[in-house]
Amino acid sequence: MYGGLKVLSSYHRKGGVGKTFLASTIAYLLAVGGPDKKGKKRKVLVLDYDSQQDSSKAFIQMQAIPGDDEYAAPIHPEFGQIDDDEWTGYNTSTDILFDLPTYDYPTAFDNIKLLPSEGNVDRVLALTSDPNELVTKITIHMTDWFNLPDLREDYDIIIIDNPPSKSPISSGILAAATHVLIPTEAEYDSVDGAPMLLNRIKIINEIRQKDPLQVLGIIPNKIPTPSRMTQKDKVALTKLYDKNGATAEHMSRFFISKRDCYRVMERPSIDPSHFDYVHNHHAIEEMTNLYNLVETKLWGNPDE
Ligand SMILES: Nc1ncnc2c1ncn2[C@@H]1O[C@H](COP(=O)(O)OP(=O)(O)O)[C@@H](O)[C@H]1O
Ligand SMILES: [Mg+2]
Repeated sequence: MYGGLKVLSSYHRKGGVGKTFLASTIAYLLAVGGPDKKGKKRKVLVLDYDSQQDSSKAFIQMQAIPGDDEYAAPIHPEFGQIDDDEWTGYNTSTDILFDLPTYDYPTAFDNIKLLPSEGNVDRVLALTSDPNELVTKITIHMTDWFNLPDLREDYDIIIIDNPPSKSPISSGILAAATHVLIPTEAEYDSVDGAPMLLNRIKIINEIRQKDPLQVLGIIPNKIPTPSRMTQKDKVALTKLYDKNGATAEHMSRFFISKRDCYRVMERPSIDPSHFDYVHNHHAIEEMTNLYNLVETKLWGNPDE
């Protein structure tokens, strides 16, 4: 599928579970070759469709819109140098769905490029007058775009940051992705949402028998340290790992804890060191686990 180009969706219906945190963190980890920077440096394109625009803001300088809480994409640094009459010089990830010229933005990180989120993505509703067709339309547009030969030359992986809640964009792109990563909190709603999502993936794979959408893993995120773990947290985690349940086979062997140093998306400036937790060996250990899981499941273990 897509000539080896990977398309990873960070997905969950629930907001606040860490889709954006994991999408941005994985983009960083793959681009630099892991926390110790010794692995292969992957070329990464981030497609931000999250209305909160946090991954866009982590990677490029978005433009505040006066009187609005949304941000606009900045003018592209290469506008004026690229000869394309149809191009306005601004791009968002939604432009892909309208077959507009899309030039990805360079970011503060060498190997990461970005198409930022335009915030509210209601523009997609204009794709079709039949709401029942919308998800399929989005899947077709995205599949065509991921199939562009230039894309696989420029990138090893495309990482999708999805909008919170149920959105035709998330559903449409999921069916076009090659892999999905599911962050979950140890909390009733998000634990309950995971089997539903696995069911959706099963349905998608009924028509993708040759190239099934693969689950990289369900990763418990924002897990309190053992001393702060409540009985409720424990019950939720036990349910996820229950051998007779639907989720057990996809559960990661590690958790990502709730740590202040991980609140990178809440920091206002763009700083490549934000994702570098050099001062915290617990965080480095978790990031190493995350990196190894993603790198190995996507490209195989070089030691094998
Ligand atoms: N492991 C973590 N530790 C501490 N804060 C976290 C962690 N993961 C996410 N957060 C914070 O929780 C909030 C929601 O995370 P986010 O990645 O935006 O979730 P989603 O994209 O699923 O809505 C953000 O403010 C983020 O900084
Ligand atoms: Mg998000």
